[in-house]
Amino acid sequence: MSIDLTEDTITKEVQSTFEGCHDARTRELFVDLVRHLHDFARETRLTGDEWFTAMDFLERVGKITTATRHEYVLLSDILGLSVLVDLINDHHGPHTTDSTLLGPFYVEGRPTAPNGADISGGVPGMPLFFTGRVVGQDGEPLSGVKVDTWHSDGDGHYDVQQEEKLHGRLAMRALMTTDDDGRFWYRSIVPRYYPVPTDGPCGEIIRAAERSPMRPEHIHFWLHADGFQPLITMLFRRDDPYLDQDAVFAAKRSLVADFVQHEPGTAPDGTQVDEPFQTLGWTFTLSPG
Ligand code: BEZ
Ligand code: FE
Repeated sequence: MSIDLTEDTITKEVQSTFEGCHDARTRELFVDLVRHLHDFARETRLTGDEWFTAMDFLERVGKITTATRHEYVLLSDILGLSVLVDLINDHHGPHTTDSTLLGPFYVEGRPTAPNGADISGGVPGMPLFFTGRVVGQDGEPLSGVKVDTWHSDGDGHYDVQQEEKLHGRLAMRALMTTDDDGRFWYRSIVPRYYPVPTDGPCGEIIRAAERSPMRPEHIHFWLHADGFQPLITMLFRRDDPYLDQDAVFAAKRSLVADFVQHEPGTAPDGTQVDEPFQTLGWTFTLSPG
């Protein structure tokens, strides 16, 4: 009976409107969402002004969101929800590489690149030679695995944050495929730690909380192999100053890697490099599924 509702009766009334929902999971999610939202408003004694501020905030999150600027994803990230969902759904086997969040800088239209390619897109920086291997639970090499990789430049900026400078060109990202021995390798540039974007509505939350916006240096990977669970993960630089204060709570000790510094000389791909460079190697283990 949705008339003369009170603070004590409105929640059940709204929940009951989902009873006709045929999909049981949808019904469960909405009934619980209403319960938590209403409890939140009651417990905090939410004011009308505060509610309006929240609605205006969400509207502005929507307005700034584009195909390359995922402010809703960022909101979920800085509130720890993205990592929580990943942790809840982590059904990987014990020998599987840990997963972590996707982040807002993945771009579907990324270029494909053959093994050995320079994926820096001409962005200047210290050369980095990455060598990856993808294996199954028994260490067997997995060939034909599609591997997305993306990272920032040496100033901590992604290509999509420098559209004017790069004339909209994508750089420091590629979709690669493992060879018969499960290997993939590329040349790029050394990334850097960076602040999450704070020029949009999410920045207001970070500033209000006087939180650090910094993410430790990392490279992203998204592996897709037939018959295996997809893996979204990152590798972090050992000794990064922000490892234990990641603004989006995504850093994991198991994903800390050694970037090795080299003097000018022969790179792992046999090319001569006349400036200092770094190398990084990693084996990714996938779970069947
Ligand atoms: C990233 O790693 O690209 C990222 C993740 C969450 C928020 C901002 C950036
Ligand atoms: Fe990132």
